[in-house]
Amino acid sequence: MNDNPVLLSVRNLTTQFFSQEGIFDAVDGVSFDIRRGEALGIAGESGCGKSVTAQSILRIVPRNGKTVDGEILLQENGKTVDLVKLNEFGKEIRDIRGRAISMVFQEPMAGFSMVYTIGNQITEVIRLHQKCSAAEARERAIEILRRVGMPKPEQTIDAYPFALSGGMRQRAMIAMALSCHPMLLIADEPTTAVDVTIQAQILSLMKALQKEMGMALMVITHDLAVISELCDRVMIMYLGKDVESAPAGELFRNPKHPYTIGLLHSVPELGEGRNQEIVPISGSVPSPYRRPSGCTFHPRCPEFMPGVCDVAYPPQVEISAGHKVRCHLYV
Ligand SMILES: Nc1ncnc2c1ncn2[C@@H]1O[C@H](COP(=O)(O)OP(=O)(O)OP(=O)(O)O)[C@@H](O)[C@H]1O
Ligand SMILES: [Mg+2]
Repeated sequence: MNDNPVLLSVRNLTTQFFSQEGIFDAVDGVSFDIRRGEALGIAGESGCGKSVTAQSILRIVPRNGKTVDGEILLQENGKTVDLVKLNEFGKEIRDIRGRAISMVFQEPMAGFSMVYTIGNQITEVIRLHQKCSAAEARERAIEILRRVGMPKPEQTIDAYPFALSGGMRQRAMIAMALSCHPMLLIADEPTTAVDVTIQAQILSLMKALQKEMGMALMVITHDLAVISELCDRVMIMYLGKDVESAPAGELFRNPKHPYTIGLLHSVPELGEGRNQEIVPISGSVPSPYRRPSGCTFHPRCPEFMPGVCDVAYPPQVEISAGHKVRCHLYV
C-alpha cells in the first residue's frame, strides 16, 4: 500500500447545478485522499458526478454550477492551499492548472485549439509555467512527445490537431498534460474515444509514465477493468455520493455496497462476477431532481430494508483499514 504523504485531500465536496427545474447536488459530500504517486480510480454509472468532481478540483465547473461546500486541500512545498477558496479566474488557480494538476479529457479535440499546431500549444503550456527560451520549450515538447510514443516527434510537433489520428491526438493531449510534470494527472475517460488496441497502449503508457515520474493519477471511467489494471484505490459513486471506497484489490475481492456488487456482476471478467452470469443492476438511475428518500440507491437495491433504507442516508462506516462504505447493512 502507498504510504506516501497525502497530495490532495477532498473533504465533503458539494457541487450544485442550478436550472429551471431547480437545484441539485451533482457531487454530494464526497471525501477522498490521493497520495503522492498513487492512482485512484473513480467509477459509477453515467451522471453520478465523476466529471463534476474533476471539474470541481480544477475549478472549471460550468457556469450554472458551483461548489458550495467542502475543501480541496492541495499540499505543495510544505504549504496547504484550499482550491475551493481560490478565485476560479484568478492567478493562483491558473498557475496550479497544468503545472501541479493537469487533465486529459475524453475527447482529445476538447483540449486543443484547431488553429495552432500541437507544438505551439504544448510549448505555450511549458512557457506559461517554466522559465525557458522558445527553443528550449520546443526541445522539451519534442522530448515529451517522444516519451508518449509519438512517431517522428520532430515532425509531428508541427502538425495541426485535426491532421492526427484519434490515438495520436490522445497521445499529444497526454504529452501536453505531462509537459510540466504535474504532481497529479486527472484522466476523465481517457480512452473511450479511441479503439481497443489504442486504448490498451494509452493505458500502459499512462501507467509507465506514472511510475517513472512518480505522478499521482485520478482515473475516471465506467470501465472497472481499466481500474483493476491501473489503480491502487477505487471510489464508487452513485448519484453524487461516494458510496464505497477501498484499495483496488480489496474492493474487487470483497465489495460491500450492494451497488458495487451489482456493478461488479455487470462485468463478467472481474471479481466474484467471474464465474457468474452478467446481471445488470435493475432499474435505472433516478432523475437528480427527484432523489429517493434515505439511501438514494434503495429503490434499486436487492437488500432494501423498508423503514430503514428509505428513511435516513447511512453514515460512512470503515469496515477495514481504508475500506469505507455507506450502507445500512453495515451500520
Ligand atoms: N452544465 C451542467 N448543467 C446542469 N447539470 C449538469 C451539468 N453538467 C453535469 N450536470 C449534471 O450533473 C450530474 C453529474 O454529471 P457528471 O458529468 O459529473 O456525470 P459523470 O459521472 O461524469 O457521467 P458520465 O459517465 O456520463 O461522464 C448529472 O446529473 C449531469 O446531468
Ligand atoms: Mg463524465
